[in-house]
Amino acid sequence: MSSTVGSLTRQTTPGADTGPIAVAYAPSKTFLNPVTVQYAKELRDTNILINAGCPGFCATDLNGFRGVRTPQQGAAIAIRLATLPDDGPTGGFFDDAGVVPW
Ligand SMILES: NC(=O)c1ccc[n+]([C@@H]2O[C@H](COP(=O)([O-])OP(=O)(O)OC[C@H]3O[C@@H](n4cnc5c(N)ncnc54)[C@H](OP(=O)(O)O)[C@@H]3O)[C@@H](O)[C@H]2O)c1
Repeated sequence: MSSTVGSLTRQTTPGADTGPIAVAYAPSKTFLNPVTVQYAKELRDTNILINAGCPGFCATDLNGFRGVRTPQQGAAIAIRLATLPDDGPTGGFFDDAGVVPW
């Protein structure tokens, strides 16, 4: 489970809403994204799909329940990625709106 705060594209797009500065958390997600790609490459010839997902800003322990989405809404992307068809994408980054730029 990644986060759009790990998207270097979003972080470097002027005017994009990327939340508060988080010098540990955001880079940890940025790092997770290419790890996702490497696993996808390693497992390309198997029936295992490897993707990163972002649940959106959800009210959980992580943020003192300040998130604007419910945990149930946040879980939707995990369920979608866990139930992709065999010919679904691998090595991608997604949220409820679709593809997230790396
Ligand atoms: N909430 C958001 O707005 C948001 C946005 C983008 C991405 N995310 C990502 O979504 C994921 C879930 O976030 P969350 O908001 O649900 O966080 P959370 O409320 O802090 O919950 C984290 C969960 O991970 C478990 N956990 C932590 N360390 C663990 C370990 N070493 N081994 C096994 N389980 C461990 C915790 O278990 P215990 O309860 O037993 O400690 C807890 O159930 C995270 O990767 C987060 O970065 C969250």
